Amino acid sequence: MSDLLKPERIHWKHYFAGFGFITIILQLITGLYLMFFFDPTLEGAYKSIQYISNQLFMGSLSRNLHRWIPALLFVAVFVHTVRCFLRWDFENKNKRILWLTGVLLLLPIFLFMVTGLIVPWEWKGYFFMEMIPNYFEPIPYIGQTLKDFFLVSFTIPRYYVFHVVLLPLISIILIDYHILAKLRKRGIFRYLLKHSIISLPFIILLFVLAWKMVIPSNDPIDVPMPLEGQWVPAPEWYFLTVLLPYMYIRSGIWIPILMYIRSGIWIPILSFFLPLALFFGVAFMPYYLKNTVVDEDDEEEGESKPKRQVHHSNALKRFWHNLNNTSLRRKIINWIIVSIITFVFISLITWGNYNSPTLGCNSCHHLANGARMGVPPPSFKDRASLPHLSENDWMMKHWYYPTEVW
Ligand code: HEC
Repeated sequence: MSDLLKPERIHWKHYFAGFGFITIILQLITGLYLMFFFDPTLEGAYKSIQYISNQLFMGSLSRNLHRWIPALLFVAVFVHTVRCFLRWDFENKNKRILWLTGVLLLLPIFLFMVTGLIVPWEWKGYFFMEMIPNYFEPIPYIGQTLKDFFLVSFTIPRYYVFHVVLLPLISIILIDYHILAKLRKRGIFRYLLKHSIISLPFIILLFVLAWKMVIPSNDPIDVPMPLEGQWVPAPEWYFLTVLLPYMYIRSGIWIPILMYIRSGIWIPILSFFLPLALFFGVAFMPYYLKNTVVDEDDEEEGESKPKRQVHHSNALKRFWHNLNNTSLRRKIINWIIVSIITFVFISLITWGNYNSPTLGCNSCHHLANGARMGVPPPSFKDRASLPHLSENDWMMKHWYYPTEVW
């Protein structure tokens, strides 16, 4: 059978991967457009974003699309990842590269969101930029030096270079190994056309969200309420989730139990370094696990396709394989399990972040309250006179409960 036919046969299986790919292209297009008008300097960023949002032709739509796409991309990538996990792809010799590049791709996606939040230099961006260096402080011996380095060296132009040059470059290389190389043989255009058509409901949803739920940017004319944005899923939710220990462990109900971890180092370990280590552990799984499954799928390269040959070493895997051995049952069970895992995961993120008023910062931080409150500073603030900038728990509380902290 011709390789060219394969994408057609398998398209439903890779629905979310295809949708993810399309959102990446949309993100590239909107990003390119924004790039022409964005001024990546501390003095100019805020002004140029206000211009893009309020005056530029299609500016508001592009900016808001560019902000909503990551949220949907994240969900698509998550569903795709769960499916690959459940297919035990990490034990498939032929899929080593697919697995590694796929998991590694999560990192640029995450960093895109972080840097993308910083570059507009609204209060949220400033907030996050101030928080990053704090992470490094509790590391023994080199922490303080690292923190100072980030405070001195990281300015908007550098984050911007990350966002528009370095991260895209890394992503393109990874995507090339992950899928492009294969698609080039099979016809990229046909693949994209097909997936654009079947993804149409989600693409329409994106446009509706970008049109209806805009970031307040008409400062100071349109001032939102302080808590506006609760329940609105925002890209920043994903890394705010990682930061949640800062809010709950130090001051929450757990204090009596976890007194001993208040000493500082444990919170960054829990919320940053441990997830990072876990991440690399997962990425390299096919390289240190016994690769017993040789081939179970039909999406491999055509030429030297190995025979279907499945050895499942442990009981759990055998159970999973037996569950899956009729194709309709397999589809239904897969669908249910993937949906449940995705639902639980997204619910947890929502539950952890629903009270984050991600649109309400402009409620107090707007120009009518003076430049001090209105415009994010054109340089880093002096931490000696504003010591709470060094306290990530203050910062987190200010984000989640601004009306209580002030
Ligand atoms: C209820 C009003 C209010 C809301 C809403 C609000 N802030 Fe603030 N914020 C303040 C005030 C007042 C200060 C000044 C603190 C000071 O002078 O030390 C402040 C200070 C800050 C600071 C510290 C820097 C500085 O100049 O002191 C950051 C960062 C910040 N806000 C970010 C945010 C973000 C991000 C949001 C939205 C998630 C937000 N704020 C929402 C009132 C608010």
